[in-house]
Amino acid sequence: MKRANGQTGKRATQLILALDVDSFSKAKYFVNKLYPKIKIFKVGIQLFTLCGPKIVEFIHKKGAGIFLDLKFFDIPNAVACAVRSAAHLRVKMLTLHISGGEKMLKAAVGSVKKQVHRLKIKPPLLIGVTVLTSKETKEGEVLKLARLGINCGLDGVVCSVKEAVLLRRHIKKGFFIVTPGIRLNKISQDDQKRTATPGEAIKAGADFIVLGRPILEAKDPLRVVKELI
Ligand code: C5P
Repeated sequence: MKRANGQTGKRATQLILALDVDSFSKAKYFVNKLYPKIKIFKVGIQLFTLCGPKIVEFIHKKGAGIFLDLKFFDIPNAVACAVRSAAHLRVKMLTLHISGGEKMLKAAVGSVKKQVHRLKIKPPLLIGVTVLTSKETKEGEVLKLARLGINCGLDGVVCSVKEAVLLRRHIKKGFFIVTPGIRLNKISQDDQKRTATPGEAIKAGADFIVLGRPILEAKDPLRVVKELI
């Protein structure tokens, strides 16, 4: 796959399903139906508030990876402790807001290092949220936040497809790009503002693309996933 920065990427872009549902049984239904076509499931604030760690354990047992998208934003010590708890849950990746600032980000990075050493686990990827894709923003703002996050030691960032190209061009270090706001066609947007299609995301150099409603609300979710893959 050709990446936006002109390099030939070795990693294939991975599809993540955002499990934005209102019950454990619905989450189980989608995981059972779509794994192993989908290998990473995103647990966000709605599902985690409802089910807690038991939904994470369920996805684990199934053999899939977990993207814990709780978008941490607090004082450095609180975020370091939350990251420690997430590491104990053996999640593959987790989010925190880059706008929480340098001290908060470095505390999170330090916390992962400690847990990896203590628990002998694979480090969860720390993914910084730049500007939510439901907001309009200036590209420069996303670039500034992404630079701060990567310089503080984060493994990757969340941004829209439009900004992914810019980040690949201007940030020369290796880092992961996660793009939500993906729609199967140009017409449907829901509450998202900076949307793109899966093809555009791949061309822009995204490593992970996140889809929620286009799959969750489809008549035949498995068919949509097969077509996407
Ligand atoms: O349903 P939809 O495909 O819009 O879901 C997008 C998912 O990605 C949601 O779970 C949302 O929380 C998440 N997300 C986002 N924008 C970000 C970060 C995460 O839409 N910047």
